[in-house]
Amino acid sequence: MSVSGKKILIAVSGGIAAYKIHFLIRDFVKKDAEVQVIMTPDAEQFVTKLSLSTLSKNPVYSDFYGDNGTWNSHVEMALWADVMIIAPCTANTLAKMTHGMCDNLVIATYMSAKCPVFIAPAMDLDMYAHPSTRQNIEVAEDYGHFIIPAETGELASGLIGQGRMAEPETIVKAVENFFTSQTSAKSLEGKTVLITAGPTYEAIDPVRFIGNHSSGKMGFSLAEEASKRGAKVILISGPSSQTTDDKNIELHKVTSAREMLNKVFEFYDRVDIGIASAAVADYAPKEVAKEKIKKNDDSLTIELVKNPDILKTMGEKKTHQFLVGFALETQNEEENAKGKLEKKNLDMIVLNSLRDEGAGFKNDTNKIKIFTRTEKKEFNLKSKDEVAADILDFVEAQLLG
Ligand code: PMT
Repeated sequence: MSVSGKKILIAVSGGIAAYKIHFLIRDFVKKDAEVQVIMTPDAEQFVTKLSLSTLSKNPVYSDFYGDNGTWNSHVEMALWADVMIIAPCTANTLAKMTHGMCDNLVIATYMSAKCPVFIAPAMDLDMYAHPSTRQNIEVAEDYGHFIIPAETGELASGLIGQGRMAEPETIVKAVENFFTSQTSAKSLEGKTVLITAGPTYEAIDPVRFIGNHSSGKMGFSLAEEASKRGAKVILISGPSSQTTDDKNIELHKVTSAREMLNKVFEFYDRVDIGIASAAVADYAPKEVAKEKIKKNDDSLTIELVKNPDILKTMGEKKTHQFLVGFALETQNEEENAKGKLEKKNLDMIVLNSLRDEGAGFKNDTNKIKIFTRTEKKEFNLKSKDEVAADILDFVEAQLLG
């Protein structure tokens, strides 16, 4: 489960590890989370509100009162958050949290929060090992909070030991794992998801074909994510080196567009969600030469005929299926994608543009925009696994209405 669209409240307390919060915010924002930062007055000695607000794209608060007699509502921020992260959490802030010493905005917000709380302690090794800190950590765990243990290494004091705040990637992973554990309640249990993936190869003769650069990665990531969510997955893939040993994924390998079409319609009636991520060749040679074509002449003309449009046919025959198409564009991207949404009778379309670096074919990453008839959502460049999670989150939100 990705953190896309999740509301992350980060509370910074006054320790040298506060410098790492910039990276933590950047990682969450890159993953399309909404980030709100608050800080203790002491934290302002280590990092500036300006840098934190620039990265989080939101104002940063450290006091109950704003400059113009306004009130920074700890209750509103606490109730807004899907998760609260206290990082770095100093020995002092941890002690205040576990003893209800509500003398700053961070503690007041923490005490008003109903969401899961993650604590990333950071302090010198002896403070971390001190019985009072150990006890406070236990109390915080008893409250149901998630402790992200400090790491061992060189500390600001020059000493070496346990006390370094966990790296931002570790904190992000802990939060992602939490959201995954929430959805591993198998949100697609009982659903059948059909996915097309990879390229198609259209034979010219026994040794040559017309194909494209699709690796199948996007489609396989979608299949694995749907399977994780409990769906029965039918994955129909053109020639690709991708493999899966996931037992919930029924993999059918095909070669040409016609074979892909036939395979799709073996299952289409029992499918709840159809996702067409395959890069299907629009044209195929009219005749396939029986023998290898010899290079006798200076030029060779191959007559091409239009292939069936698999997704358009799925759209025409749609009864109950929720249909997701992809649009791979190089120009007039949004207009073309919206055109395909209509023309192919889709419920949703995922646009990726070859003009975006790291997006589209072969890469392990992609950058997408999703359109329905009424909504548009833009995502940052992410791994294809994360993109697959974003797409399925969006599908699920649409299905829930
Ligand atoms: O496989 P990867 O290397 O990971 O790359 C992923 C990808 C770039 C292939 C994928 O993200 C993607 O964009 N897939 C769709 C590519 C494409 O053919 O787009 P299109 O705009 O030409 O087609 C529009 C839609 O119609 C697509 O959903 C396509 O699957 C479908 N189509 C197109 C032609 C056709 N004859 N039959 C179809 O079903």
